[in-house]
Amino acid sequence: MAANALYDITYGLYVVGCWSGHKPAGCIVNTCFQVTSENPRLAICLNKNNFTLNCIKKNPRFCISIISEDTDPFVISSFGFRSARDADKYEDFGYEELDGVPAVNGNFCGRLVVEASEFIDCGTHDIVVCRLVSSYGGSGVPMTYAYYHNVIKGNAPKNAPTYRAPEKSAVSPEPAKGNRKFRCDVCGYVVESETDLPEDFVCPVCGMNRSHFVEVES
Ligand SMILES: Cc1cc2nc3c(=O)[nH]c(=O)nc-3n(C[C@H](O)[C@H](O)[C@H](O)COP(=O)(O)O)c2cc1C
Repeated sequence: MAANALYDITYGLYVVGCWSGHKPAGCIVNTCFQVTSENPRLAICLNKNNFTLNCIKKNPRFCISIISEDTDPFVISSFGFRSARDADKYEDFGYEELDGVPAVNGNFCGRLVVEASEFIDCGTHDIVVCRLVSSYGGSGVPMTYAYYHNVIKGNAPKNAPTYRAPEKSAVSPEPAKGNRKFRCDVCGYVVESETDLPEDFVCPVCGMNRSHFVEVES
């Protein structure tokens, strides 16, 4: 099987914003497409381990913010590599309510408020079919998944339907092991090192640079 052929399927990137009770939650998805034009329906695909799926099953109305090339990439790290089970993803950005659902603040190409109507079981993931409730324009060029990989040099975590294990050459070498520990403040990855981390060190999990690593007690 030519697995690489799958890499040529193109996608955009989106922030899903939903409620967990009274708290805003949500995550990054690359899997969003329009299903019908009349009475527009859309679909997204969510991993069953993602808290966002639980939230949408309880509160079916949610917002899809269309990420642009000008969207702060930290939004992708914050929403795509941590779970709202244990992190407040909106803390650094804030949000506004659009038709009763949270939409993270920032530059986006547009926002779609939708309501889930069907959950299709696909094993590890559910396809969530939703009807469009309202839409809001924004500005900018929609970020493609290819742009995210090639320009931002971002990765996707294992819960993303299109996860690919990084090639060995794309991962910066781990520094010589020592008893100092540095923790990525975005995804929580911990690296042990003898010295300060090298200037060009990037997180092998979320792709953030050295400035996101904070030394923690060993
Ligand atoms: C670039 C990118 C694309 C992603 N695409 C999807 C997706 O389409 N579906 C999905 O379930 N998770 C996807 N993820 C993973 C979730 O955003 C991630 O697992 C998140 O931490 C889930 O948070 P939650 O537990 O608060 O729902 C993607 C992550 C990134 C960074």
